[in-house]
Amino acid sequence: MLDHGAAPPADDTVAPKPSALHALTRRKPVESLVNEGGQGEGGSLRRSLSMGQLTMISIGATLGTGIFVVLGEAVPKAGPAVTVAFVLAGLTALFSALSYAELAGTIPVSGSSYSYAYATMGELIAWVCGWCLLLEYGVSVAAVAVGWGDYLNELLDGTIGVTLPASLSAPPGDGGVFNLPALIVVVLAMVFLLGGAKESARANAIMVFVKIVSLALFCAVGFMGFKSGNYADFLPLGRDSIGAAAAVLFFSYIGFDAASTAGEEAKDPKRDLPRAIMLSLVVVTALYVLVAAVAIGAWDWRKFEGTDATLAAIMNDVTGQSFWGTLLAAGAVVSIASVVLTVLYGQTRILFAMSRDGLVPKVFGKVHARTGSPRANTVIVSLFCGVLAAAVPLGELVNATSIGTLFAFSLVNVAVVVLRRTRRDMDRSFKVPLGPVFPVLGLLCCVYSMLSLDLITWKYFGGWMAVGLVVYFLYGMRRSRLVTTGPSVPAEPSTTPVSSAEK
Ligand code: ALA
Repeated sequence: MLDHGAAPPADDTVAPKPSALHALTRRKPVESLVNEGGQGEGGSLRRSLSMGQLTMISIGATLGTGIFVVLGEAVPKAGPAVTVAFVLAGLTALFSALSYAELAGTIPVSGSSYSYAYATMGELIAWVCGWCLLLEYGVSVAAVAVGWGDYLNELLDGTIGVTLPASLSAPPGDGGVFNLPALIVVVLAMVFLLGGAKESARANAIMVFVKIVSLALFCAVGFMGFKSGNYADFLPLGRDSIGAAAAVLFFSYIGFDAASTAGEEAKDPKRDLPRAIMLSLVVVTALYVLVAAVAIGAWDWRKFEGTDATLAAIMNDVTGQSFWGTLLAAGAVVSIASVVLTVLYGQTRILFAMSRDGLVPKVFGKVHARTGSPRANTVIVSLFCGVLAAAVPLGELVNATSIGTLFAFSLVNVAVVVLRRTRRDMDRSFKVPLGPVFPVLGLLCCVYSMLSLDLITWKYFGGWMAVGLVVYFLYGMRRSRLVTTGPSVPAEPSTTPVSSAEK
């Protein structure tokens, strides 16, 4: 049920009453999505990113606090079997990554899963997806910035013997007044992003290199303290413990889809996006399993309970010298900064796509003529995330980021099956093998992981979604471009299965 029949009013701000049902089901033609590629208010995004840079964007957005901080929280939940939990969480990510790869190669735009949902399941579901992405990107970047501050303190302590006072390193409600480091790292990322996508991608590539070297160093040093006896009781807490740990660890896989937000800035998106998504996931999963295996080998899993178990602490313990832990803390500071940079990048591009569709204000779609990047968007998003990280105790909202991400992934798994049915004619540079088998497995894994999360996390997620729906009904529903001006190109040809299915 496409909305292209709507008579476009001259004014593109607020349209006269759309029918609620119509508003919920209208879909954006795939051709509109693809043809609009890059166009914003006052300019276009630039196609400057290579396959290597796209892969680095996804690795940059993924490898961070999950391995440097969250690992310490997951080990007490499953013991040595946390290594299997990493594989399980990785499988959930892998099935969904296949779906992302197919859709990114078919609809290479910046809106990622939001845009895929718009083309396949309609505007309301797309909005819900976009609102989930705000959790996956916007809220998680704030959480990651907080983790960065912790490692910065560790680094300052190890180098000059000074740590920031609690009042300057935690928000009110968490024992402080303002988390200054969290704000600083977000502002630094903003400065890079304002320079343009190409410059940010270059800086990110260097940071990703540092993070891979840091983790390799951890493995080399940790391996010297490896005790196979630590694996004697591999599953001390029962089989269910693996699922519980995997649900927590899922946070560490958030971000592999970041390359799909660069669809309109990639040089050859149809060819490179699917490759970048899959390659980054393989690299990240291998590193996670290796690092977790070495960490448990070096430290009995019971030592993780109730301690500040970071990779740096393990290194200090193994070597008996604080130098190594300090070196790793320096690596972590650089590594986590690249998550902030790339996740912030992804959030700006998703809002860019949503703005072009009229669902969020136009300011998010303005492109700066010289840098070819959405400057105002970048400043607003960065300040929002920076203040969120610095002044708001995120608490349970952080866990809700995993549900939000899993929900968005679920929609992508559904979208790939829907698009296969409705648009068989489209050119797909990558196809998920075995038809719907992997997307269905991906959907089931996502639902299973969501159900493994606590009730309180669900409550926060429910509250978040309720706010999102109110925003949509009060704002986006009437300002949608499908209502105000109609789609930018004619709908799909009537000979394709989509049209017949929709009639
Ligand atoms: N996956 C990202 C991290 O672990 C969010 O920091």
